[in-house]
Amino acid sequence: MVIDHYHDPQSDLWLDWLQHHRHADDPEFGQAIQAMTERYADRVLDGARLGTGMTLADIGSGDGLVAFRAIRRIGPSLNVTLADISAPLLRFAEASAVRQGVRQQCTFLHCGAEKLAPLADASVDAVTTRAVLAYVASKPTALREFFRVLKPGGRLSIAEPVWREEALAAKALRTALDEHGAERDRFMSLLHRLKAAQFPDTDEEISKHPLVNYSERDLVGFAMQAGFADIHFEFHIDVLPPLARSWDIFLGCSPHPWAPPPRAILAERFTPDEAQLFEQIFRPIIENSHTPNIDRVAYLTAVKPGQAQP
Ligand SMILES: C[S@@+](CC[C@H](N)C(=O)[O-])C[C@H]1O[C@@H](n2cnc3c(N)ncnc32)[C@H](O)[C@@H]1O
Repeated sequence: MVIDHYHDPQSDLWLDWLQHHRHADDPEFGQAIQAMTERYADRVLDGARLGTGMTLADIGSGDGLVAFRAIRRIGPSLNVTLADISAPLLRFAEASAVRQGVRQQCTFLHCGAEKLAPLADASVDAVTTRAVLAYVASKPTALREFFRVLKPGGRLSIAEPVWREEALAAKALRTALDEHGAERDRFMSLLHRLKAAQFPDTDEEISKHPLVNYSERDLVGFAMQAGFADIHFEFHIDVLPPLARSWDIFLGCSPHPWAPPPRAILAERFTPDEAQLFEQIFRPIIENSHTPNIDRVAYLTAVKPGQAQP
C-alpha cells in the first residue's frame, strides 16, 4: 500500500515540530524528550494488548514512534497501518521503515483521524493514537471512526497531553494584567504576549480551539457515545525536574506544533527594546529556575463490544 501522493512540499509544521521545534535542535534535550515520549508510547502499547498476528492502526503516526515500537514488541507477524494528515511525515516514516527492514509490515495512509476512509469497517485488532486528538477539531467523530474500523473485541488505546491548564494560565495572566494595568508591570505584559502567541487566552478563543476546548474527562464521554465498552481512564500528572535550563533551548522550543517558538515571537511581536527587557528579566529565571516540568497526560483504553473472531 502506498501513500496517495508524493508531490507536496518536503516539510510541514508537523514534521518541523517533531524534528526541530520540539527540542530546539538541541541533541541532548532531544534525547530527553525522546525518552519521555517513548515512555508514553510504551504505556499506549501496554493498553492495546497486542498479540501475534494482529493488525494495528496507529492514527496520527508521526515519525512512527508507536508503530515501530509495536513491531519491535510483537515481531514480524504484526501488521501496522500508519495514518497521518502529514504527507512529509508519512514519507519520513516510510523511509525509516525501509531502513529498519520492516516496510513489508507497514501500510501508509494519508488521511485524517475524522475520516479513515481507506480503512474498512471492522478491519483492525487495535487502534492506538498518541498526542493527536488534541489537534482534531471533532474528537467525537474521530472516536466513531476508531470504533468503526475496529473488529468486535478490538482495543483502543489513547494518550493525550492535556493543555487546558496552559490556556487557563494565559487567561489568568490576562485577567491580572487587566486588573492591575499593563503599564504597571511591563514585563508581565510581555510575558502575557508570549503566552498568548502560543495558547488562546480568552474564553471565546478557548471555546473554539481544539487543543483546549475540551476537558480530558470529555474523552470518556466521547468513547461512550461512540459505542465503546470497558472504558478505563487515567489522568497522570508528573511533577518532574526541569528538563533544560538553557536560554537557547527556551528560545527554540515550541510546546506544540501550532505554537511559534519564543525566538519567532520575540522577533515578530516585540520591539527590540521589549525583547531586550524581556531577556534581561526572564533569562536568569530560565537559567536558574527550579520551576518543575509539569507533565499532564490523559490515558484511555476501551474495547469495541462483541466477540473477537478466532
Ligand atoms: C504531536 S505529533 C504526535 C506523533 C506521534 N503520534 C507520536 O506519538 O510521536 C501529532 C501528529 O498528529 C498528526 N495529525 C494532526 N492532526 C491530525 C488529524 N486530524 N488526523 C490525523 N493525524 C493528525 C500530525 O501530522 C502529527 O504526526
